[in-house]
Amino acid sequence: MEQALGRLARDLAIDLGTANTLVYAQGRGIVLEEPSVVAVRITEAGTYGDVVAVGEEAKQMLGRTPGGIVALRPLKDGVISDFQVTEEMLRAFLRRATGSSMFKPRVIVCVPFGLAEVEKRAVHESARAAGAREVVLIPEPLAAALGAGLPVLEPTGSMIVDIGGGTTEIAVISLGGSVSAQSLPVAGDAMNKAAVDYVSEKLGLQIGERTAEALKLELGCASPLPQVLGTQVKGRDAQTGIPRQAPITSEDLRRALIQPVNAIIEGIRQVLEATPPELAGDVLQRGIVLCGGGALLRGLTQVLADSTGLPVMIADDPLRCVVNGAATALENPQILDRIRLP
Ligand SMILES: Nc1ncnc2c1ncn2[C@@H]1O[C@H](COP(=O)(O)OP(=O)(O)OP(=O)(O)O)[C@@H](O)[C@H]1O
Ligand SMILES: [Mg+2]
Repeated sequence: MEQALGRLARDLAIDLGTANTLVYAQGRGIVLEEPSVVAVRITEAGTYGDVVAVGEEAKQMLGRTPGGIVALRPLKDGVISDFQVTEEMLRAFLRRATGSSMFKPRVIVCVPFGLAEVEKRAVHESARAAGAREVVLIPEPLAAALGAGLPVLEPTGSMIVDIGGGTTEIAVISLGGSVSAQSLPVAGDAMNKAAVDYVSEKLGLQIGERTAEALKLELGCASPLPQVLGTQVKGRDAQTGIPRQAPITSEDLRRALIQPVNAIIEGIRQVLEATPPELAGDVLQRGIVLCGGGALLRGLTQVLADSTGLPVMIADDPLRCVVNGAATALENPQILDRIRLP
């Protein structure tokens, strides 16, 4: 019994991402890593009914549900777009992470830089409604930089670029705060959308979000690959409406992704321009650290290095930097006090 209580009574750190949610339990490590997707039944009245699936299982259903069930991604551009569904998703995740629906943990949640008050309140309220006893918010870029092992609390400039699903968060951090920062609504989802549009325009094929993401992972690149990769893309012919496949290469994906990649480059330029000279010097020396799933796009570090003239590297374990940083804050109250949002 005591052991059971010991296992349950853990506070949590959560990276509530547009694409993926990760949960760290105090003293235990990362206990949950799932896509931020929920499948719910639609009632006869047209309202949401029971939750059918969450996480990976629900992601498999995206774009494939029969009438009466919808698979949804309740976060968009890094913020909660569907309050009720976010709450259901968090409730399911918190229950899995704590192993109980009785224990009400204290939770740290990471939120994008510059979130409006009303959006912060939405995160607070969903987490509480989902079973959290107390909710503490910390800025995502700080968590990411902490998780990437950067000296965020010291009087030196560290630059982190977190390319997630919904947003790219770009920040220069010193003494536990963002000195200059931007949150762009251009990241993995925008890349998927760019792939959907390209395939539709160039190949006359309609494809869904999941197919576009799979193409991006297989062939996506920001600069030409040493060897061009290719595959067949399956979709629905835009004219006839009949399923058809067509060949596609990494060069097609590179062209498709030029726009979102350029938007990220432009955002980095603007943040660098707004960085005071002393800190800019630190960044020049230490370089730019990338994290988030989008950091894994082939050739991206090279393109960013070429366009900024700075060294660029990918953090270790880039998809987990934010949750790892939040975990550090959870385990170290003095760090949490320095970075938590009021
Ligand atoms: N190898 C890869 N190449 C390109 N993109 C990738 C790769 N692996 C993952 N991604 C993309 O990374 C994104 C997910 O990253 P991540 O989990 O960091 O986002 P998130 O934290 O949920 O989103 P946000 O921080 O915007 O709320 C997805 O869009 C996914 O397609
Ligand atoms: Mg993220």
